Amino acid sequence: MIAEAPSEFVKAAVIGHPIKHSKSPIIHNYWIKKYGLAGAYETADIPPDNLRRGLMGLVTRGFTGFNLTLPHKELVLDMCDEVDDLARRVGAVNTITVRDGLFFGTNTDVFGFAENIRDHVPDFNYEAGPIAVLGAGGAGRAAVHALLDQGCPKIRLSNRSFDKAMTLAARSVDSARVQVIPWEERGAHLADVKMLVNTTSLGMPGRPDIEINLRQLNPTACVYDIVYTPLYTKLLRDAQETGNPVITGIGMLLHQARPAFQSWFGVMPELDKELQEMVLS
Ligand code: ATR
Repeated sequence: MIAEAPSEFVKAAVIGHPIKHSKSPIIHNYWIKKYGLAGAYETADIPPDNLRRGLMGLVTRGFTGFNLTLPHKELVLDMCDEVDDLARRVGAVNTITVRDGLFFGTNTDVFGFAENIRDHVPDFNYEAGPIAVLGAGGAGRAAVHALLDQGCPKIRLSNRSFDKAMTLAARSVDSARVQVIPWEERGAHLADVKMLVNTTSLGMPGRPDIEINLRQLNPTACVYDIVYTPLYTKLLRDAQETGNPVITGIGMLLHQARPAFQSWFGVMPELDKELQEMVLS
């Protein structure tokens, strides 16, 4: 829902466990300042078994906007008074707006995922052929929904836990368009894909790099990694070496924050280089 810019001080927070490395406060506080709004955005470390009580405690303290991150995005669905269609389909809520004490939940990761593609490859043709997606966690679910919504004819979904990929496919809006590929075969069905997307946590600091052979990949296929630390993961560096266009993950983080900010502060913020540099530094 689009709100008017509120006249009172707005308090929002990102809730996770752990949460101290979250970049969300940098993003939202930057926009509060940039647009001259009265508000503040904080972090709240709340363990899953205390989530309901923790949220109510924050509401009592005057908070009216929440972002949810690991491990809360699925759990919080049942704590909302109203959840929009998209969040229900994805099975995850990452944004809550509190109005008259009621919790309205939505999912802005789907928007963030697709807007980032638009920034990098504005004329990307989703309908041109299959797209390979690695990972079936929360981010994988958002990616699959975004790609189906955009008209992708076939998604080749591969996840270490096969059953999780099967569940994602079965619950998607059009399961006939989602083909589950065993994790061991993730590099074996890439010859006709128009894009390869990594939504797993592989490649992040302290995690191994993703192992995948890009030999089959057509040189025009885009390679998108939603990991943004480091900005250029091994997967993206390999793709650059073979001349494939790459899409870095930072834009997904920045874009998913925009509709959340809008629903609390009434302003749809624009991205700029200064913010991107602050978040990456
Ligand atoms: P998020 O919400 O950020 O997607 P998540 O739900 O924990 O986080 O999902 C993490 C993803 O990375 C999952 O697809 C996970 O695979 P499993 O579903 O099999 O757990 C994937 N992942 C994590 N570590 C991995 C590894 N060592 N090898 C392959 N996939 C891995």
